[in-house]
Amino acid sequence: MKRVSIVGGSGYTAGELLRLLTQHPHVELAQVTSRSQAGRPLQRVHPQLRGLSLPNFCEPASLAPADVLFLALPHGEAMREIDRYTKLAPTVIDLSADFRLNSVDEYAQWYGAAHLAPQWLSKFAYGLPEVNRAALTGASHASGVGCNAAAVILALLPLQRAGLLLAGRPIVAEVKTGSSEGGAQESAATHHPVRSGVVRSYAPVGHRHTAEIQQALSLTDVHLSLTAVELVRGALATVHAFTPPGTTEQDLWRAYRNAYQAEPFIRIVREAHGLYRRPEPKLLAGTNFADVSFDLDARTGRVVSVCALDNLMKGAAGSAVQCMNIMCGFDETTALDFRGLHPV
Ligand SMILES: NC(=O)c1ccc[n+]([C@@H]2O[C@H](COP(=O)([O-])OP(=O)(O)OC[C@H]3O[C@@H](n4cnc5c(N)ncnc54)[C@H](OP(=O)(O)O)[C@@H]3O)[C@@H](O)[C@H]2O)c1
Repeated sequence: MKRVSIVGGSGYTAGELLRLLTQHPHVELAQVTSRSQAGRPLQRVHPQLRGLSLPNFCEPASLAPADVLFLALPHGEAMREIDRYTKLAPTVIDLSADFRLNSVDEYAQWYGAAHLAPQWLSKFAYGLPEVNRAALTGASHASGVGCNAAAVILALLPLQRAGLLLAGRPIVAEVKTGSSEGGAQESAATHHPVRSGVVRSYAPVGHRHTAEIQQALSLTDVHLSLTAVELVRGALATVHAFTPPGTTEQDLWRAYRNAYQAEPFIRIVREAHGLYRRPEPKLLAGTNFADVSFDLDARTGRVVSVCALDNLMKGAAGSAVQCMNIMCGFDETTALDFRGLHPV
């Protein structure tokens, strides 16, 4: 039994970590920190945990040693105290962007400031099992994933692995995102009268997840844009790329099947009939699945790959627990078998 603690426990990704970890047969919850909720029950901010016997929130300063420590802090916070956190637990999984990039220069370029703990960058394995399972196996430290990055990476991975991305042509990805991506801290942009009903382009160029996608897939010409839409949970990536001349639909089937047939959480969705012909985030709410499709415009060689996932799950807490399972030698799918709700 591993004793697991969470730092940043009152946030949205922590709520999902708690939902998963409280059903995990090999895990015991030790401490959950919150500065604003210290001393109060976890259920005060995570009502989905009602009825469970759990410790109250505690102050971050009172963290004791544990076997596994999840960091679910806003960007830039984990790296401030990473020396302390890594002394508290042999296994540390950070959900923020602080340890996703390998290169100090890339970090400074995309995040606009110097990294505060550059010596730790190379010690964290990138936490998307589908691209980095070998490095995660037995690793002590893993980063989280960016939810938009994860959706784009999973859409493109089969094409990249099969050599079906035409050199010299850019890849253009557009991700529609739900409001929980912004975390539990409210802002003017998330105020209900302002956010409700929105279809808003908020990062047409320059989004930081571009660096993560390029690094994970060893690509250099990815262009990412983000649009906020009327969803609480969910991300839908629509990715346009060009294939080498002569590429057929059979080639694409082979590429996607080869990449994903053994993956427990990736499903190829490409139905000829019915309502549910392509991936949809709504169907994935609360699950660790990512659904992926592809379509080939044979006239131009353009492939459009779509990936849907739940930003709080496969895009954050679900992948983090999947990483923990791999790092600790548990069955990779433990506590991640929820298949979603329909209708919802
Ligand atoms: N939301 C998503 O869809 C998503 C997806 C992928 C990755 N992520 C990443 O995951 C991380 C957590 O995201 P989230 O959405 O869960 O954020 P969140 O809802 O804003 O929660 C962040 C938590 O950190 C605590 N906190 C803030 N500053 C702190 C500090 N200096 N020391 C200790 N605790 C502090 C806050 O609680 P108190 O104020 O009560 O202490 C809060 O519980 C972020 O880095 C985010 O980029 C999020």
